[in-house]
Amino acid sequence: MLDTPTSPSVIPPYPARPKKALNPLVALLKLRQNLLGIWHERAFEQFMIPVKLPNRRVYVVNGVDAIKRVFLDNHDNYDPKSPQMRKALTPLLGDGLFVSDGDVWRRRRAMVAPAIAAAQLPNYAPMMVACAEETATNWRALPAGATIDVLSEMAVLTARIIGRTVFGDGISEAEATRVVRGFSDYQAVIEQMDILSMLGAPGWLQRDRNGKADAAAGEVQAMVDTILARAGADKDAMRLAASLLNAAEGQEDNPAAAVRNEAIVLFMAGHETTANALAWTWALIAMRPDVEAKLHAEADAVLENGRSATLEDFQRLPYARAVFEETLRLYPPVPLLSREARGDDILRGFPVSKGDIIVIAPWLVQRHKAYWKEPDAFRPERFLPGSAEPPPKFAYLPFSAGARVCLGARFGLVEAVLCLATLARDFRLKPVPEHKLEIECRLTLRPKCGLPMTLERR
Ligand code: HEM
Repeated sequence: MLDTPTSPSVIPPYPARPKKALNPLVALLKLRQNLLGIWHERAFEQFMIPVKLPNRRVYVVNGVDAIKRVFLDNHDNYDPKSPQMRKALTPLLGDGLFVSDGDVWRRRRAMVAPAIAAAQLPNYAPMMVACAEETATNWRALPAGATIDVLSEMAVLTARIIGRTVFGDGISEAEATRVVRGFSDYQAVIEQMDILSMLGAPGWLQRDRNGKADAAAGEVQAMVDTILARAGADKDAMRLAASLLNAAEGQEDNPAAAVRNEAIVLFMAGHETTANALAWTWALIAMRPDVEAKLHAEADAVLENGRSATLEDFQRLPYARAVFEETLRLYPPVPLLSREARGDDILRGFPVSKGDIIVIAPWLVQRHKAYWKEPDAFRPERFLPGSAEPPPKFAYLPFSAGARVCLGARFGLVEAVLCLATLARDFRLKPVPEHKLEIECRLTLRPKCGLPMTLERR
């Protein structure tokens, strides 16, 4: 299945690139429309891009050696998320590990990691597959040729999976829907404001939505508190929550608040990322009939006679995995990562001082001309085992890298591949010709205005 010279190259859409670097103020204004529209062609060749903003210095770091230094070798100097990112997410996550640093982060990471580690996947995979089969059953009930919004279908699917992971059977369908709605409300409030502030944009460019954000966050927290209050009593139905509670007892001043914050982190980090990536995957598959045919052939061979997938099948689905990994390269759900320097350092000869913001952009690095052949082309074969062009270390960052690497990377990968194979076993999704595929970049990267596609039974 390795790539052959006859494989056609398809260049999926990306925002137009300005011919030369924009001046910082124009760039900031443009950022409000599309976060990814400011990068000029040369940004995909440079290794360090210093940006002087009125109130602080920002470095956009593309060089893999410097990325390794920030994320791994000198991680302690860069472990805080940017203060603006913390400000944006703290109303919702409190001291949850996604926004904390230092000792709190270390303690919470150690508390949460075992609950979603690869060793736990045998507990979660059957539920992931059951959720994907539920989606397949719903799709089967639709009339032939129905148009569905694949983005919201994937959002419902992944929210169901993470909801059942975190809250087990202890959450009702109505509660799950309310939690998901609460999250969308919160995101709608903070949306682009956070990106701007994350990059250190001046206050006058940011709308003050703190009051609304606090209200939306308060609702989510109250709902999650109510659900979690049952975890102590029903340990079997709410295993993950009960295990977090157990770990928090004796370690945390307020164990219930710590568990609530981490449950919200897991829900937030684990649902929209996977949903967006799966939606992009369907859009890309539809652009390459040869990729679609290989994916179908693999799904048919592994899930013979239409049987349901198992965790063991993950290893037998390398093509589905390669398709998903290539999608994460082209459309990383988290396209920008930011950190604040705690103290002085040197990155590729540039001086870094306390308070400087470091932006590492999977969007740039994963399309960088020095690291990737045909960087804008969709070529899943590069991720197949034995590929002649394996991804360079620290140039493939959909899950970040180093000390703060995504805790759910394996979970998300297994989830996506099993869902993809289950749905590809039975269905083909065709683009709707009148819909223009565009990119929207807010906190995460997703297809703008949803992703209408036509559903066909195979
Ligand atoms: C395709 C799916 C996913 C993608 C692309 C993704 C991406 C990321 C990225 C880029 C980060 C680092 C953010 C930063 O450094 O600023 C992160 C952190 C995190 N992710 Fe994921 N994620 C995915 C799925 C999941 C899932 C399914 C879970 C939970 C089950 C999860 C849990 C977390 C947690 C807890 C963190 C915080 C880690 C820390 O700060 O130490 N993620 N994720």
